[in-house]
Amino acid sequence: MSHPDKPKVQIPQVKFEVPEMNKEAQKGAPQPATEVSAELKEMMQQAISMEMQVSIQYMWQHVTWTGIKGYAFHDALKDVAIEEMKHAERIAERLF
Ligand SMILES: [Fe+2]
Repeated sequence: MSHPDKPKVQIPQVKFEVPEMNKEAQKGAPQPATEVSAELKEMMQQAISMEMQVSIQYMWQHVTWTGIKGYAFHDALKDVAIEEMKHAERIAERLF
């Protein structure tokens, strides 16, 4: 979606880094049943980054759009922004 009256907002893509757990936190923690490849982790981190990027984009459109189009889409953009953040959370939960 784009709005002809508003300048496009360039949102930099941020790499979502998952910190390594320290040794104390790993003691007694359940171990994963299978080893996850570095490639899969990288793909999941990329997916989280993309979900967060679009979430911020929709949130920004929600707060900045004005006029009749803003009135028509205001609530829908907020709902989509929240939904995209939930997608990021669901993927992030699978990393641990
Ligand atoms: Fe999504």
